Amino acid sequence: MEIPVTFVILAAGLGTRMKSRKAKVLHRAGGKALLEHVVDAVLELADPHRTYVVVGHQSEEVRKLVGSAGIGFVHQTEQKGTGHALMVAAKDIKDHAGLLVILYGDCPLISAATLKQLIEAQTQSDAAGTILTAVMEDPTGYGRVVRDSSGNVLRLVEQRAGTPEQLAIRESNMGLYCYRSKPFFEHVNHLRPDNPAKEYYLTDMVEMLVGAGHRLETLTIADPREVLGINNRVELAAVDSLLRERKLRELMLAGVTIEKPETVTIDADVQIGMDSLVEPFARILGRTTIGENCRIGSASIILDSELADDVEVGAFTIIRTSRVEKGATVGPFARLRMDNFIGEGAHVGNFVELKKTSLGRGSKAQHLAYLGDSQIGTRVNVGAGTITCNYDGLGKHKTLIGDHAFIGSNATLVAPVEIGAGAYLGAGSVITDPVPPDALALGRARQVTKEEWARRRRERNTADTAGSPARR
Ligand code: UD1
Ligand code: CA
Repeated sequence: MEIPVTFVILAAGLGTRMKSRKAKVLHRAGGKALLEHVVDAVLELADPHRTYVVVGHQSEEVRKLVGSAGIGFVHQTEQKGTGHALMVAAKDIKDHAGLLVILYGDCPLISAATLKQLIEAQTQSDAAGTILTAVMEDPTGYGRVVRDSSGNVLRLVEQRAGTPEQLAIRESNMGLYCYRSKPFFEHVNHLRPDNPAKEYYLTDMVEMLVGAGHRLETLTIADPREVLGINNRVELAAVDSLLRERKLRELMLAGVTIEKPETVTIDADVQIGMDSLVEPFARILGRTTIGENCRIGSASIILDSELADDVEVGAFTIIRTSRVEKGATVGPFARLRMDNFIGEGAHVGNFVELKKTSLGRGSKAQHLAYLGDSQIGTRVNVGAGTITCNYDGLGKHKTLIGDHAFIGSNATLVAPVEIGAGAYLGAGSVITDPVPPDALALGRARQVTKEEWARRRRERNTADTAGSPARR
């Protein structure tokens, strides 16, 4: 961009119509907070040092959410309206020459391409500013664009202040503007709260600039669904659906098969490789990345995890903050609770739960196990029903299992404990002491067999009942 552009994103309001204790811009759609979507779009073309977010309500959380990008913040202590937000911001940025782009933090569908188009339109015109508008089927809630008989923009009228005639106008203000900084900052402090809401309306800048002899342009976008604003939870749900549809489409066009996409939820930042298959009702969330040729089974949930290529996730499996290496299988009905590592080609089967556990290459835990705080080597066989007792009521302890070890079914490993490489644990053992490599450990009572005991008991019983009918 040749002309320097300063971006201001308004995010100070509470959002009364959300009926929430949480600031509106912190609400989530498509897997990200509303403001994150807007900031991400802006930073695709903006210089972070010329990007400002106006904060007020829950400013600490808002700053934390988008603060890492190196952008500036302006604190609007009292939220007296969108115009007031710019009056406050002007103190810091009024000397920024060039163009000023203003957007609202509650319009998460905005794309960098639309921003670019707006800036280009303004760059090519001698108007004082360009307003992004759309002709909406139902413009309720949006400001309307009022023009004179020759079509010149006269003013923007808010829903609450409009006459019935003005409210019949369908061309609406989408809340995205590109102004020349100089005339904007010359006039912004003249805004007055002369309206039923007693707010300083940013939209009044239009009438003021026109009154001062400037001209305002509009850029009308064909599809208002690109810039819908969110004021309540019904609109939040609608925008969430749009964002998710967009994400699924993008993935499908990039070579991911998604069965019954209307049932699948995938967050905005998720990446999935070519020829992977996502089955119905899967939820793939947060910063998850999935390699090529994977299968994500029905109704499984994957959050903030990394799956390499050729991984198979069975139905009804939950994976959180874990890494699964190439060719491994997890599930159906497995749970990688947190911070696990599943080595290449390893298998985790049904009703197996792992927590902070590393399962080495080619190892198997196929049925009904709990493995917590464990370091398990390569090609280990973990028998059905194996339990690590990692918690003694006070603290958590580690279980170490060497390569090629064989853990018999229903073994109980009382941590801290170490099983050497190649060792063998008898089924049903309770293991409390270290087992050296290649040893066999048995930690269970020896079996007692009493010949004929059952038959004698049966016969005794029959004799008793036959001999004394009265007792029945
Ligand atoms: C605004 C426009 C309206 C437009 C619509 C598009 C005004 C007066 N009206 O209305 O013409 O059609 O957006 O979506 O601008 N904010 C602050 N400080 C404040 C007040 C608001 O930072 O003092 C922030 C809010 O956090 C929000 C944004 O500004 O992110 C927009 O405010 P909102 O109250 O939602 O404006 P609308 O009524 O939707
Ligand atoms: Ca709004």
